[in-house]
Amino acid sequence: MTVTLINNKDQEENDQPKHVVVVMDGNGRWAKKRMMPRTAGHHAGVKSTREIVEDCVKRKIQALTLFAFSSENWQRPEQEVSSLMELFVSTLQSEVKSLDKQNVRVRFIGELSAFSKKLQKKISETKELTKNNTGLQLNIAVNYGGRWDIAEACKAIINKIQSGELQTCDINAELINEYVCLKQLPEPDLFIRTGGEMRISNFLIWQLAYTELYFTDVLWPDFKSEEFSTALDWYAGRQRRFGKTGEQVKPAQTQQV
Ligand code: IPE
Ligand code: IPE
Ligand code: MG
Repeated sequence: MTVTLINNKDQEENDQPKHVVVVMDGNGRWAKKRMMPRTAGHHAGVKSTREIVEDCVKRKIQALTLFAFSSENWQRPEQEVSSLMELFVSTLQSEVKSLDKQNVRVRFIGELSAFSKKLQKKISETKELTKNNTGLQLNIAVNYGGRWDIAEACKAIINKIQSGELQTCDINAELINEYVCLKQLPEPDLFIRTGGEMRISNFLIWQLAYTELYFTDVLWPDFKSEEFSTALDWYAGRQRRFGKTGEQVKPAQTQQV
């Protein structure tokens, strides 16, 4: 008898994303709904961050990249910016031991030189303490902008051309990939944005070329394990075609039994 089997192997292997990126949005609105100051929303958001990191560790997801502060966020009221900076310092301080215990390696992307010496020190200490960890690769994007990232890559490539290490004709997408942030990781598979806005807001604009985009109205402080699980289930149902046809991605096999 001849039966047609669907080859699900590739799909199954890809059911779980290797690299998840998150725009943690909606803290201010969460606080406003409760008649609380916006900063209370940022504090409440830390709990969601902790929970999602722990979930990624449990699920053995390779990498998680979190957008914590954009290059545009400096334009917020001074008091909110300084309270966010304090929150970064205190959160790194309180979480680093637990992250280390969970074998999480923490790295930062963005223009770090704009931060206070105190915050830069905390960032270096966190990076240093966790540098040999082999579990979840956690990247925190602070003072990060996708356009800045691409501009930095351009500068580095031009420097190599000027020193004769590269030629203009060497420039292609693969080469640029080697110069943007997160080059050491698989490209993001799943992008999650909470808070209801359907925009990228200058996050990883180069790296998101083929990422599956998930938007939810849930505000970041309310985004916990259950919501994360819903996002992962949604991802598992996506067929990633990368330009091919559906049949090419999931070929039917004919077998004699
Ligand atoms: C995201 O929440 C956190 C940061 C940008 C630091 P918001 O503060 O943008 O919250 P909303 O969008 O005003 O609700
Ligand atoms: C994006 O959120 C940045 C972070 C979550 C850190 P914003 O709230 O700043 O985005 P826009 O300005 O509304 O697009
Ligand atoms: Mg916002």
